[in-house]
Parts: sequence; structure tokens; C-alpha cells
Amino acid sequence: MSEPTEANVADAPTGATTGEGIDTPLVVPATGDEAAPPPVDPSTTAVPLRTDALSCLFGKRVVVEGVSLAFPEKTVTALIGPSGCGKSTFIRSLNRMHEAVPGASIRGGVFLHGHDVYSRRADPVAIRRRIGMVFQRPNPFPTKSIADNILAGPAFTRLCLSRGDKAALVESTLRGAGLWDEVKSRLNEPAGGLSGGQQQRLCIARALAVEPDVLLMDEPCSALDPQSTRRIENLIDELKERLTIVIVTHNMQQAARVSDYTAFFTIRTEGEPGRLIETGPTATIFGSPTDPETEAYVSGRFG
Ligand SMILES: Nc1ncnc2c1ncn2[C@@H]1O[C@H](COP(=O)(O)OP(=O)(O)O)[C@@H](O)[C@H]1O
Ligand SMILES: [Mg+2]
Repeated sequence: MSEPTEANVADAPTGATTGEGIDTPLVVPATGDEAAPPPVDPSTTAVPLRTDALSCLFGKRVVVEGVSLAFPEKTVTALIGPSGCGKSTFIRSLNRMHEAVPGASIRGGVFLHGHDVYSRRADPVAIRRRIGMVFQRPNPFPTKSIADNILAGPAFTRLCLSRGDKAALVESTLRGAGLWDEVKSRLNEPAGGLSGGQQQRLCIARALAVEPDVLLMDEPCSALDPQSTRRIENLIDELKERLTIVIVTHNMQQAARVSDYTAFFTIRTEGEPGRLIETGPTATIFGSPTDPETEAYVSGRFG
């Protein structure tokens, strides 16, 4: 079997990008809703990741246009909208996965801790280490053992960890992904033998092993049964205590359950690019959205 091409492991030295400083206004509006997360105050809220007028292109075709969105620290932001409006393209451009497609490019900017992710000096592999990603279909290395999936990143193979250190890393990472108890007795068996839900948690573990700041998830539960979905949702709840999470979901209940903020994308007129229509605390977007198209989408009347 072939190895996955989208493995979110990275081959980079540590400390490639560090930083601070947020220098543009944030788009997450304040609300009086007590159920909503606090409004984002740029002077006091850390925002590890943001986009500035980000457009995404395939060749000359603009598929996402002009998105400025901030992802506050230790929160979950759900990206929602009808199929084809560019959610996957947008989320893949956040960690430079988009450019893996020949001819793909962006305009505008993406900033991680204030540093330009698309700067000429930025190393895309280092960026993907800081901004991990999990895909719709679980993509573990199927013939590698469960433990070796965690240690698969060249970042680790190069580190020459001792056996004890490796074992500790595998255990802590699998615990962090809520998978340890289920797999601890078969760490040396191939990952391909796990159930779909377990494979997805293994992929999350693999992303966590390199200690990212941000985790991107593109419809991570769409291939899973309800029980596995619930487990991933519980895991997202735990992970946001230490990570910033961006999740694409077509499941409105899921967006409402897991996210603090929601961003609604759509294509207003056929042939136009997808745009960000409205964003804010999830309770506001679902309870009293401003835009009639957001209202129609979240209430299930289109899309
Ligand atoms: N590799 C690609 N090459 C060219 N066009 C693409 C590619 N992937 C997606 N697109 C186009 O970009 C648009 C947005 O797609 P996508 O980001 O997958 O939307 P969503 O995830 O919201 O369903 C669609 O029109 C799609 O056909
Ligand atoms: Mg998609």
C-alpha cells in the first residue's frame, strides 16, 4: 500500500518560527450573549493565527476571495458553508498545503504569531509542523505500527531518541488523543488494523506528536459512525485547552456542539468565488445571524 501524501508530519528543526504581536483588527464581533465566548479584544486576546484578505487560486481561477479571519488562542472555530464554496481550499492554505496542487497560489496573507506564513524565508515544512492538519479520510501509514505512526516524522527519526524516550512520547501522545487504553497492548501491530475512528484519532495523535500550536481539521468525522464522531468531538473539547482548532464541518449540530466561533462561507452568485459572509460567536451565528443567507444555511433551508 502506498504511504499517504498528506501526512502531517514535518521535517524541520525546532524553533523555525516564533513570535508575537497582532497588528490588525479582528473580525470576531462582540455580543451580549452570555452563552457566547468572550468578545475578542485584540489588546488582550492572543490570536496565534489569522488571515488578511486571503484569496486562493487554482491557476487563474479565484475560488476563495478576500477572507480576513482571526482564530483566537485555545478556541475552536467552525468553518461552514455549502459544498464547493472553498472551505477545504481555504483551510489548506492556512498551513501551505494548498500549494501542493500544481498551479495553486494565494493572494493576501496568513500570519502565525504575527509572522507571514508565506514569507520567502518561511519553511513550509516547519509551518506544517506548527499548524498540523487532519483530513476527511483517516490517512495513517497503514503498514507501519501504531507506535511508528507517532514516531514517523523525520523530526523524530533525526532526533535519535532513546527507546525509553520514544516509548514515553508514544504513550503521552496516544493518551492525549484518547487512544492509549484501546491500543496499549498492540502498539507494534499495523495501524491499518484499527477501526476508522481509531485511525482518525491516531492521525490526530500523529499531528499532536510534534506539538503544533494550531490544528486544522477538514471534516474529520464525515467518514465516521456516530460513536466515533462523539469521541472525536470530546477530544476536540479537551484539545482546545492547549491548542487553537479550526474545523470544517457540514454538520450543523457538530458546529454548534464543538465550536466557540463560526464562520459562514458561501458563493453568492454562480461562477463567483466563495467569500466569508459572516463570523462571530457560534451562539450568535446560529441564534441571530445578521445575513439572510447565513440564516437560511444554519436553519437548513439551503446547502
Ligand atoms: N485541485 C483542484 N484543482 C482545481 N480546482 C479545484 C481543486 N480542488 C478544488 N477545486 C475547486 O475549488 C472550489 C472550492 O473547492 P473546495 O475548497 O473543495 O470546496 P468545499 O471544501 O467548500 O466543498 C471548487 O469549485 C472546486 O471545484
Ligand atoms: Mg471540502
